[in-house]
Amino acid sequence: MEKLFNLSITVNGKLYEREVEPRLLLSDFLRHDLGLTGTHVGCEQGVCGACTVLFDKQPARSCLMFAVMAHGREVTTVEGLGTIENLHPIQEAFQEAHGLQCGFCTPGFLTTLVPFLEEHPDPSEDEIREAISGNLCRCTGYQHIMDSVKLASEKMRNSREKKPQSG
Ligand code: FES
Ligand code: FES
Repeated sequence: MEKLFNLSITVNGKLYEREVEPRLLLSDFLRHDLGLTGTHVGCEQGVCGACTVLFDKQPARSCLMFAVMAHGREVTTVEGLGTIENLHPIQEAFQEAHGLQCGFCTPGFLTTLVPFLEEHPDPSEDEIREAISGNLCRCTGYQHIMDSVKLASEKMRNSREKKPQSG
């Protein structure tokens, strides 16, 4: 048996310490060791984007990373974006504009789009298309997803405007 690695990782704001095999994929660690099955695994070769998580706040393919690469780092999965009672605006938008069908690809879209919409508060259609070009949806078309992203950008802009200014 391979020597185990003492992994210390923050996931969705909570610190976890686990002994893991060095070859364990981050996607498998999240799903099997932590039970965070919202991160989906499709192609396992970096193509479909279903396994996307936020790694130090930037989207990353968890199927292409070993869990040990996240030692001392911060990961956010779809479970960390919002709660059932308090959805993230992007989750509300996907629900309202029918951006999810079977939902398999959805966690990857959401984690890809959160930092994108934070950096691009009012994105053009082309910018949205480019942002989601690495996420594949095998259900049907992308029109509802495009509509959801536009609605999400509106919601995120509105919630920013409502926030009291500090200082
Ligand atoms: S499962 Fe990771 S990109 Fe497809
Ligand atoms: S909603 Fe089914 S794969 Fe995208």
